[in-house]
Amino acid sequence: MLLQQSLFKESTLPTGIHRRLEALLSQDLDFHNEQSRYASHSFHAFPAKFPPQLPRKFINGLTKEGDVVLDPMMGSGTTILEAYLLNRKAIGFDIDPLALLLTQVKVCPLDITAARRTGHCIIESAEAELAQDQAGLTQRLEQRWNRKTKEFVDYWFFPATQIELLALAEAIGRVSDFRLRSFFELALSAIIITKSGGVSLALDLAHTRPHRAKVIIDESGKILEDDSDVESPSTHSIQPAENASVRAAFLTKKLRSPIEEFRRRYVQNIDGLSFLRDVRFQPRLQFGNARGLALEDSSVDLIVTSPPYASNAIDYMRAHKFSLVWLGHSISTLGETRKRYIGGESTTDVEYVKLPEYSANIVKEVGRLDARKGRVLHRYYSEMTGSLREMFRVLRPGRVAIVVVGSSEMRGTDTQTGKCLAEIGRSIGFEVPKIGVRQLDRNRRMMPASTNRNPKSQIQKRMHEEFVIGFLKGNN
Ligand SMILES: C[S@@+](CC[C@H](N)C(=O)[O-])C[C@H]1O[C@@H](n2cnc3c(N)ncnc32)[C@H](O)[C@@H]1O
Repeated sequence: MLLQQSLFKESTLPTGIHRRLEALLSQDLDFHNEQSRYASHSFHAFPAKFPPQLPRKFINGLTKEGDVVLDPMMGSGTTILEAYLLNRKAIGFDIDPLALLLTQVKVCPLDITAARRTGHCIIESAEAELAQDQAGLTQRLEQRWNRKTKEFVDYWFFPATQIELLALAEAIGRVSDFRLRSFFELALSAIIITKSGGVSLALDLAHTRPHRAKVIIDESGKILEDDSDVESPSTHSIQPAENASVRAAFLTKKLRSPIEEFRRRYVQNIDGLSFLRDVRFQPRLQFGNARGLALEDSSVDLIVTSPPYASNAIDYMRAHKFSLVWLGHSISTLGETRKRYIGGESTTDVEYVKLPEYSANIVKEVGRLDARKGRVLHRYYSEMTGSLREMFRVLRPGRVAIVVVGSSEMRGTDTQTGKCLAEIGRSIGFEVPKIGVRQLDRNRRMMPASTNRNPKSQIQKRMHEEFVIGFLKGNN
């Protein structure tokens, strides 16, 4: 109740959009000790999501009920859920199918009794299938995917886990109500995509390149597979564990029952549903590219968004495909989607734009050290130029876009993402009255991979900061 009251707290900010924006950006933007797991915010893990207090601060401070709030790269839908809870008209786009599912489910109120009943039926149905038709399930596993996807599944999922996951996926697929089905699809995904790799054989999904377990044990501790003496790229990358037993422990994964994990997960998610009642505006969410939004000019009152890092520093699709293959997607189509991510690494078929001076110099500096990396960074700033142009186009005059970004390190050079995006924004027509800085909570936030291992280095310190850029579209 207290939380619900604080959501609707009135703001006491100066009048005049410039001063209001500056005041908001000067306040505490860290939110380290705040509770962020209320409502449906914790339905599913998602790398680099921002704390809900961040969009809430700007939605409360810069809009009123009924205003339109957009996130063109909505990710796990933090802005969308906050706008929804605060009775704003939320609009969200993303190119990632998991982001769309996740956000849809997070703002979809359900009848709690029907959800409980459906969860119970799914478990009963999956258990019955497992008890009565293992052969049928095994056969359907063989036929479910194309070769590439099957290879991926076989590498990352233990055979017994695959059978249970299939029984669950099929039982969920038989739920006829789309909204209930989506809710349970998301719970299934949530038991696979966790920081520690969930029920897959991945030891972590927080790394850009996940590591596969070498020793697999069941819940009683019995060894099911032991490849601990086989060297692989994943064993090489685990540096600190030098003696054999520590090394083996590092690489060991205890298999958990997907059915049990699923039961726990959906029961937990059902608790969050009670928060989702009595809102006036249902969000509009769709697949879409932030560089070409299906929205009218001057139709949005506030944007709060966080684009990907440059150079794919957090590789969303690498983690998301672990569950998306169970929801009907193939590895090759997911690979195609990955190519369209802002910040991707391919440098062919890219429309490079002429950058303003400071950003062009940073690109040049990185390019001097590594020509390909320079092109990757140029691609990122070109794509962000396209995205900022769209934000400018769809915002109403006198309104604000809040863009939250972290810097990346490329060949030891700080990409200065905050400064560069501010400069690019100005070149498009935005005013940038202030850039706020927030410190990331290292314990809570997944960080992008870095080649610099000295935590005291300036660049490492900067990697733990995020810039909150306030872009204002003037009235002329
Ligand atoms: C940092 S995440 C957003 C996290 C979000 N603020 C949250 O709290 O969950 C960036 C998102 O941008 C999306 N994205 C990348 N390229 C995109 C594009 N071209 N158009 C739309 N979304 C894109 C990614 O799929 C990812 O979900």
